[in-house]
Amino acid sequence: MLRDGLQNIPEFIPTEVKVELFRRIVASGVREVEVTSFVNPRAVPQFSDATRMAKAVLHTNSRGVNISALVPNLKGAQRALKSGLRKLGFVMSVSESHNIANVRRTTSESLDELRRILKLKEDTPDLTVMYNMATVFGCPFEGKIKPQVTLKFIRQSYELGIRDIFLADTVGFGNPKEVQEISKICLGEFPDVSFGIHLHNTRGLGLANAFAAYEAGIRILDGAIGGLGGCPFAPGARGNTSTEDLVFMFEDMGISTGVSIEGLLEVSRYFKSVKADVCFTSSILEAGVPVFRGPISKDGSEQKWFT
Ligand code: COA
Ligand code: ZN
Repeated sequence: MLRDGLQNIPEFIPTEVKVELFRRIVASGVREVEVTSFVNPRAVPQFSDATRMAKAVLHTNSRGVNISALVPNLKGAQRALKSGLRKLGFVMSVSESHNIANVRRTTSESLDELRRILKLKEDTPDLTVMYNMATVFGCPFEGKIKPQVTLKFIRQSYELGIRDIFLADTVGFGNPKEVQEISKICLGEFPDVSFGIHLHNTRGLGLANAFAAYEAGIRILDGAIGGLGGCPFAPGARGNTSTEDLVFMFEDMGISTGVSIEGLLEVSRYFKSVKADVCFTSSILEAGVPVFRGPISKDGSEQKWFT
């Protein structure tokens, strides 16, 4: 939430507010939070406080919570490590064009960055590098990406030692059939890799795609409070699948998420109270969880609902 959710908001959100969002997200039961992004602050001014933010959340009492940050290159990884973080999400697109638009590097140059980042493990053995694979289900410049291309990148990163991969639908081009197919192929070919999925709800397929990924065997799903988010360097990208909607769907199906809907609603209420113009797109936020009014009998009592 705190990275993708905030990166498309042009006005700087004060670090104190970001930390309070983190506290409330954790209080709702979420155990994995991407808290910031160590990118060039001129490219994304929202994260010009990345070091301060990382240090601040590491000082909160959040034992058992995995705190990570996005990094696009070695410099970002060095800054993140210096701030105290030990879990990094390295971003590289499977589309050459989006990788150039996003991080100004060819994928081959990004792979070199990844190699350099992984070398940091020599001095920091507790460092975990995850691979955030952008544009797996389509690119705003190149269109659909063949699963073989995705598999090639997984193989290359696997050989470098990566075991945590997020398949990202950066813009929101995927459909449930594709999500299920690609997820199954990835899980089948790389059984010892932990795969997560990162979905954007650009055309309303976020939840259907999330369920398709779940059916395929994926158990780690990204979301953002209120459906915020979007990549500033991917034209057409809208918000992430909302965490509230994801939690509601799974809990309603009897699949425990460990996250409290009420706690999540509290996070969005807080954010709205400090940033009144924030634009949420979550259905659960809008409609609320179902409230049943009780059975009615045919004695006129039902009329009370219409008065
Ligand atoms: N953190 C802070 N500053 C960084 C940096 C990082 N991770 N990487 C590079 N810089 C700085 C360099 O120090 C240099 O600064 P200077 O001009 O003051 O000397 C400047 O940026 C240019 O360095 P260079 O290596 O040529 O980077 P670049 O201009 O090619 O930019 C990225 C590469 C990846 C850092 C930049 O494109 C970026 O931050 N993109 C944002 C990607 C993003 O957030 N996407 C959305 C999430 S997926
Ligand atoms: Zn995203």
